[in-house]
Amino acid sequence: MKVSLAHRVLLVGFMGSGKSAVGRELAEQLGWRFEDIDEAIIRDTGMSIAEIFKDPGESSFRLEEHRKTREALNQDEVVIATGGGWAVVPGRFDEIPDSTLTIWLTVSPEEAIRRVADSENTRPLLSCSNPLEKARNLLKERSDSYSQAEHKVDTDGFSVEDVSVRILEILQANNPRNGME
Ligand code: S3P
Repeated sequence: MKVSLAHRVLLVGFMGSGKSAVGRELAEQLGWRFEDIDEAIIRDTGMSIAEIFKDPGESSFRLEEHRKTREALNQDEVVIATGGGWAVVPGRFDEIPDSTLTIWLTVSPEEAIRRVADSENTRPLLSCSNPLEKARNLLKERSDSYSQAEHKVDTDGFSVEDVSVRILEILQANNPRNGME
């Protein structure tokens, strides 16, 4: 983190890494707001992600994702769950303001596919004949981008609560005043 006190937490990582579930739990533990970028887009457009990808198209989704994440990053005391493609665009980590703790939630392709089964409305990229192969390829392409986060937290084999506690520990190590009450 660029300065020592965290005002917000940004979760990045692949589809099915648990950004939304962990983010919600973490925000509750901290008494902070939770911003789920995919949910905000669905709410504000009244469309599913699959519908947006179809028309007006993925690039419109990416613009909206960028705009909403930027807005969320302007807030304090917020946990932000990005969509799995946000961190992949070059320069994204340069836009993150000071006092933001960035966490990469890692997941294996096998576990990701298991977790996101039946979610083609929110994950059109995995709605194909061989989602596991697609997940493997995408993860290979994207891992270098995700690895720009300051901390990496594994999620395979861990519960939402386990992962959230691990992030709280990281947060406390960075800012001993957070979450100590
Ligand atoms: C995407 C991930 C999805 C959603 C969209 C595109 C991606 O979010 O934003 O389907 O490119 O990885 P989750 O990571 O929350 O599944």
